[in-house]
Amino acid sequence: MTHKIAPSILAADFNNLQKDCEMINNSLADWFHLDVMDGVFVPNISFGMPIIRDIKKIAEKTLDVHLMITKPERYITDFKKIGADILTVHFEACNHLHRTIHAIKEEGMQAGVALNPHTSVYALTDILQDIDLVCLMSVNPGFGGQSFIENTYKKVQELTNLRNQTNSKFLIEIDGGVNTGNARKLLDSGADVLVAGSFVFKSDNPTKTIEELKKI
Ligand code: DX5
Ligand code: ZN
Repeated sequence: MTHKIAPSILAADFNNLQKDCEMINNSLADWFHLDVMDGVFVPNISFGMPIIRDIKKIAEKTLDVHLMITKPERYITDFKKIGADILTVHFEACNHLHRTIHAIKEEGMQAGVALNPHTSVYALTDILQDIDLVCLMSVNPGFGGQSFIENTYKKVQELTNLRNQTNSKFLIEIDGGVNTGNARKLLDSGADVLVAGSFVFKSDNPTKTIEELKKI
């Protein structure tokens, strides 16, 4: 049970956000996963800084912020100010990934890099030592509730091998379509963090669903 569970707030009830945040606080979840979408990098707009600032006031767990925005380097300081603990940028959205990763770390946050389903894990070979987390997208980013892409298992295994070969320490996070049907195989392939949105919040008992994912 060493893996972490990060419920995605994107699937929460925004009319009752405090209740859902408290549910996460009182559950076996480890992190809050917060999806920021700009309508440019992905074909959807979610929420931004005011919401995250207010979640920070009540969240008792790590804030894992996933930026699906172009040129994320523009907002690193702002996300630090509102309470992000982990800041993940997309490989596909950064012209100068090395600089961006180090700017995140200089602000005192952990730095993550997310890969779209079409991006090879080997694209990160030369920066793996600098990264705290790699987020493998197991759906095309932009929406909750999509089906898990099966090729993700192969990517987790490749990334786990790369981690061993390079003696790196980053965590492997899986984001999109995660449920109790694929969680065990993902963990066996080397995943450390499972993000789950719809599977948690659309279930009859989200607290119990988190527990099932945690104890799988
Ligand atoms: C997708 C987001 C995910 C999403 C996951 O672009 O990055 O974090 O909220 O939702 P589910 O678990 O419903 O696929
Ligand atoms: Zn996400």
